[in-house]
Amino acid sequence: MIISLFNSKGGVGKTTTCVNLAYLTSLKYKTLLIDLDTQGASSYFFDKKVKKRNLLNKNPSEIIKSTQYPNLDIIPADTKLENYKNGLEKILKHDYDFIFIDAPANLNKLTRDIIKHSNMIIIPALPNILSLRTYNQILSLKLNNNLKLLLNRVENSEIHKKVIKAVMKLPKNQYFRNYIPKSNIIEEMPFDKKPAVMKNEKIKKAYMNILREII
Ligand SMILES: Nc1ncnc2c1ncn2[C@@H]1O[C@H](COP(=O)(O)OP(=O)(O)O)[C@@H](O)[C@H]1O
Ligand SMILES: [Mg+2]
Repeated sequence: MIISLFNSKGGVGKTTTCVNLAYLTSLKYKTLLIDLDTQGASSYFFDKKVKKRNLLNKNPSEIIKSTQYPNLDIIPADTKLENYKNGLEKILKHDYDFIFIDAPANLNKLTRDIIKHSNMIIIPALPNILSLRTYNQILSLKLNNNLKLLLNRVENSEIHKKVIKAVMKLPKNQYFRNYIPKSNIIEEMPFDKKPAVMKNEKIKKAYMNILREII
């Protein structure tokens, strides 16, 4: 199953969600994380360098790297992808139970191909009404029928409760019932590069609930 994290907005939690879900999935399943964002934030969490190496023309053994976690492999980011024209299918044909793709925050040929070739697109979004507008814009491109909105950085405030209510008016298969709370532990991830789900039971539960809605 290929699951992509995408939003045309940056800073909404694509990388954070990708890293935590991929790590959690790897506790049970053979998992591959593909970092297709040339900024390489997911690669950073696994101490992998971003290179210019034309990964679409390479053999799997040259581009797939192991991580410190037994069932989790990664294809680190490649700056050559800035000039992407076609050929994404090649790196998606690997023998893994789950492939998670960290996609860049652009709507271009690469992200359109990522969306087209995924079984599910998770669209992390900050809890405000304008995020829902962006989500609807992505939906209206009709690139894939399985796009699901995931609210991230949710607080226990009246405004966020209103946003949750608005989301619940969407068709049930278009959003995750569970959401990710705003948390310092999640925000601190870049300091020790450890997935937040390793460090805190409440956070682990939040991401597990998302995973249960997927699997
Ligand atoms: N649930 C959360 N609670 C607190 N901080 C978060 C949460 N999710 C993401 N962040 C922080 O928000 C920033 C953007 O997240 P990131 O995953 O890098 O977004 P994107 O990949 O969409 O650009 C990062 O500094 C990250 O640590
Ligand atoms: Mg990112």
